[in-house]
Amino acid sequence: MNILLISGSTREGSLNKSLLDAAAEEAHNLSHKTEHLSHQLASFPLYHSDLEEDAAVQNQLSLLRQQIEAADVILISSPEYNGFHTPHLHNVFTWASRRAAGKSHSVLEGKVVGLLAAAPGPFGGVRMLPRLSSFAADHGCWVHPRYVAVGNMASKTDGNGQVTCAETLQKLRNLIDQICKMAAPSQVAEPA
Ligand SMILES: Cc1cc2nc3c(=O)[nH]c(=O)nc-3n(C[C@H](O)[C@H](O)[C@H](O)COP(=O)(O)O)c2cc1C
Repeated sequence: MNILLISGSTREGSLNKSLLDAAAEEAHNLSHKTEHLSHQLASFPLYHSDLEEDAAVQNQLSLLRQQIEAADVILISSPEYNGFHTPHLHNVFTWASRRAAGKSHSVLEGKVVGLLAAAPGPFGGVRMLPRLSSFAADHGCWVHPRYVAVGNMASKTDGNGQVTCAETLQKLRNLIDQICKMAAPSQVAEPA
């Protein structure tokens, strides 16, 4: 399976980027391929319909569409900002929701999506995750109902931000295994 990784945080030293890196490693161990969203989310201008005519933005959007189209599965890890996902993540969904010329649906429709969140506090983004799930579903995505929410993230990583917590790594493995089965309906998914 091809897994597209999207971090809702573009921050240097982001906890969510660390969690996605760990997910990528687990995915490779399960023989899946991964790709990070090559454009930093921050490089997308805030959505404005006039910008749809801008050649540079069109190129950027075209690459985004190609990356989403090529993915069997999308894994998103987002910080919780006041109970919601980040503005950058919201913005990229808005751009991706726009149909390419001649297409009857956006590239997001029918995509299988798994959700992760990491936070320095104890709750790990649990208020945000169901909201992000509903938001992604409103874009036509099939969202896996189990999330991986990692609270107290600093205690689960080494000094370099690498996830060392065996339980967290196991949860990532379970979600990746489940979600790839969800994206390949010929395989029967076991409960996580
Ligand atoms: C504007 C803002 C709002 C935040 N709101 C929450 C929140 O609702 N819940 C939470 O657990 N952490 C909250 N935080 C703390 C983030 O979880 C923390 O900054 C985290 O490290 C961001 O993720 P990142 O490391 O991947 O960038 C907030 C941080 C900011 C800057």
